[in-house]
Amino acid sequence: MNAVNVVELELDHEVVTTAYQQVEDILGYGYVEGQRVSEQSGIGLFSLCPGWNGDLRWVSAGNDRGFAFFDHYFQRLGVAEKTQDLLGDCGQLIMYSGFFVVRSHTVNPYYHVDFSAAVGLNALTLMTPIKPTGDAGNLLFHDVNGDEQVYRYSTGKAVCFGGEFYHSTEPFESDQPYVFLCFSYGVTDLKLWDAIAETAAEQGKMYRHPAHGIVAVAD
Ligand SMILES: [Fe+2]
Repeated sequence: MNAVNVVELELDHEVVTTAYQQVEDILGYGYVEGQRVSEQSGIGLFSLCPGWNGDLRWVSAGNDRGFAFFDHYFQRLGVAEKTQDLLGDCGQLIMYSGFFVVRSHTVNPYYHVDFSAAVGLNALTLMTPIKPTGDAGNLLFHDVNGDEQVYRYSTGKAVCFGGEFYHSTEPFESDQPYVFLCFSYGVTDLKLWDAIAETAAEQGKMYRHPAHGIVAVAD
């Protein structure tokens, strides 16, 4: 992609679809904010709107079963191993949190970085689409020359971005919301944790701390 701190992984899309289907009863249309718990599975999700333009929602774990759900798919998709294969030995990689990103429109680009430059490739945000995206609503980013480029999402592939990767969702509008399965993950090195936690500890109600395990965020 000719940009800093971004890699692409191949993922088993059937497994990604299975993950989505397991929570489709609570993730479906009409879920905007707050907590929902599946009567069948006990999986709890928590939806947060960060209030950027558009109707972006982060739907993350709302209870222990919800956290275990994301953990299970992080393992089953082999995210840590696949990342190690690409980047070489970077020590143990753990999932900090899992979530779905859901949105049906965004009006203007909102450029940002998920992690600061200090994080480099030591922590990553992985995004993979549940269903194919259209011509719009893909990922805008700046390449090493500062020129705007478009990365087109594809099922069976995940884009993973680390520190300083400058990006935005491409403006779009769709009848059906675009849903992505996402993981925030990276190293267990506590020296890097303060920089990583600026993002990894701020995306929902729970996250995994590299030393303390699963932490519930106070309301
Ligand atoms: Fe982002």
